[in-house]
Amino acid sequence: MKLGVALYLSVLTVNAQAPSSASWRKARLEALLQHMTLDEKLGQLNQYSAGEPTGPGTTRDSYDVMIAEGKIGSLLNVTNAKQADKYQRIAVEKSRLHIPLLFGLDVIHGFRTIFPINLGLSATWAPALIEKASRLAAEEAAAQGIRWTFSPMVDIARDARWGRISESAGEDPYLGSAIAKAYVRGYQGDRLDNPTSILACAKHFAGYGAAEGGREYNTTEISERSLRQTYLPPFHACVGAGAATLMAAFNSLNGVPATSNSFTLGEILRKEWRFNGFVVSDWDSIRETMAHGIANRPSIAAGKAFLAGLDMDMESGLYLSELPTLVQSGAVPMARINDSVRRILAAKLDLGLFENPYTQPNASIGPLPAQARQLARTLAEESFVLLKNQPYQGLPLLPLVGRSGQSIALVGALADSAQDMLGSWSAQGRTSDVTTLRAALAERAAQGKMLFRYARGVDSVGDDETGFEEALAIAKRADVVVMALGEKAQFTGEAASRAHLDLTEKQQKLLEAVVATGKPVVLVLFSGRPLTVTWAAQFVPAILEAWFPGVEAGPALVRTLFGDVNPSGHLTATFPRSVGQEPLYYNALATGRPVPAAVDLGKPPDSGSRFVSRYVDELNAPLFPFGYGLSYTTFTYSPLTLSREALSATALNSGRSSVTVRADLTNSGRRPGTEVAQCYIRLTGTSVARPVRELRGFQRVELAPGQTKHVEFTLGRDELSFWNIDMKYLAEPSFLQVWIASDSASGLPAAISITK
Ligand code: NOJ
Repeated sequence: MKLGVALYLSVLTVNAQAPSSASWRKARLEALLQHMTLDEKLGQLNQYSAGEPTGPGTTRDSYDVMIAEGKIGSLLNVTNAKQADKYQRIAVEKSRLHIPLLFGLDVIHGFRTIFPINLGLSATWAPALIEKASRLAAEEAAAQGIRWTFSPMVDIARDARWGRISESAGEDPYLGSAIAKAYVRGYQGDRLDNPTSILACAKHFAGYGAAEGGREYNTTEISERSLRQTYLPPFHACVGAGAATLMAAFNSLNGVPATSNSFTLGEILRKEWRFNGFVVSDWDSIRETMAHGIANRPSIAAGKAFLAGLDMDMESGLYLSELPTLVQSGAVPMARINDSVRRILAAKLDLGLFENPYTQPNASIGPLPAQARQLARTLAEESFVLLKNQPYQGLPLLPLVGRSGQSIALVGALADSAQDMLGSWSAQGRTSDVTTLRAALAERAAQGKMLFRYARGVDSVGDDETGFEEALAIAKRADVVVMALGEKAQFTGEAASRAHLDLTEKQQKLLEAVVATGKPVVLVLFSGRPLTVTWAAQFVPAILEAWFPGVEAGPALVRTLFGDVNPSGHLTATFPRSVGQEPLYYNALATGRPVPAAVDLGKPPDSGSRFVSRYVDELNAPLFPFGYGLSYTTFTYSPLTLSREALSATALNSGRSSVTVRADLTNSGRRPGTEVAQCYIRLTGTSVARPVRELRGFQRVELAPGQTKHVEFTLGRDELSFWNIDMKYLAEPSFLQVWIASDSASGLPAAISITK
């Protein structure tokens, strides 16, 4: 105890002189380390859940004694300042060395102000807005003592069956990297010791999204090239943006659990990328390496994970129980323990936790501030993707014209479910903060003197048909029917893989019955993943993908349906026509027998096209491709021009050369709108096959009716290099095709040769 006080005082003295200098920090850290016992060091590597568990249950219920003994370095799932301060006082006032705790939580798409789910956020293609949202989430969480979020989730997700596609930014590594950086910047702010900043945690390292069959926690087999080309870039981007922590994944990767994978954690993360933050395991995943079959004893599980490079143990407690013996036997060097402790203490120092361990009293949040709601609404509006909008009586069905006297029927339990609007992982989000579609539409109808009727009709799960009659009755009396169908939020997120991607049988049945009334139907889809709404895509005149939009679900939807705002979201995950096509993603390699375009438009194959890469009972084409999204206006692209006629690989590789591709983009319709111009490339003649298209740039462009703007993208070393046959990231002599288009399946390319 005496020693603790002395150290504390000496530290305060140094603090008064030069609170934030690197040498001060280093000195302080080393001073602490020198005085720590092995148990205290291992305590810093140990994290337990002290709130609602987010994984298989634990038997612990009290942490007070362990914290006072210095056996816990971090707690997760504490959600408010009162709890946080209670534990923090024990750590700071009762433990020998007074080291503060670090509180971590899954602040995934907002803390109290809940934004759209992450897949929806990515559909905005607006990293700057995502940065704002994560900044607000950081401010709200930090005010409650939570200085670490387990976000961003940057797993590339190519399979809609996987429930966690909803937490991701979709299937593309380029867009995924841009968005990943935005989250990190938002959470961490300019300085970590700003009391409103929280540590980011890029997860789940690595390959988790490639779970076989889309089944949660399942095995992944990913070649080193695919890993580097597709799955790692968003993690690398986070490290580049200064992400303080990473979380290892549950899955095994090429036979070795990611939790104890020395190739990803050691070779790539530490050696190649020189990451100097710390890595936390996933929930109990160190123990789970025994279930994977690579350790028959807890001590082996702990030793393998630790030596692979995993610094902090979430929940298993095995570092605490097993590492002492491993250190004593020399199997785990003390120097390695010190390294991990240093990284964790450095994060606490960076956050300023030693100086300001407690939160402000009265840190409770009252009603959501108007500005927070405004931001949540903007993100929701920009996340919606208009999938279809056919004419009805000569005009596109959407936007609904707010004529007085028009009568609207709204059908579907999801329209009235505040809980579902929050999506999975809603931290401190409250259903009472949510305005549902039902509430917002009723309000708009009253303002516009429209007749409004609502019927639950059908739930998003289950077999109940008792609401059908009422739903059909109100549909028949309406001028337009809005149907809110899709998934329950519980069917998305962690541990929510699906083998079927369609609407439930009952939803489909009611949808068909309402369409059969002959009334125009707008389908508002709530979902955490692409759904195989293949029937709807053919027979329902208008479809709006709304994801789970967060607290401002209703107002954002109503403003969109009535044309106050024009939809501008574009898909970041391919919508399949049927589940058998999964995994389905746009940036795939070609085969040796690509399918002729006519066949993929549904024409029967002629004898010459029998032996091609296709299904005999389904098209290859997706229902809606990556990048796709309509608007209430139309956009036209001019033919492309290139800034030069030749490019050389040598000049590209030295960073001296690039090519700029340009197009004129015109709003050719009658409403103002925002287009997401997307730049894709294809390289052929390369040492390894490259995808049929790869995103290499994007830009949101606002255009008034009739307005034309010039869009351009510059392609240099970063855009044109790839992991070649020698596993080097280089540009090669090849043939380059470039598109600037509205999605990954349209546009006409320009081309240029890349010479030696
Ligand atoms: C398990 C999940 O995989 C991870 O994403 C989350 O951060 C932890 N549980 C903590 O809740």
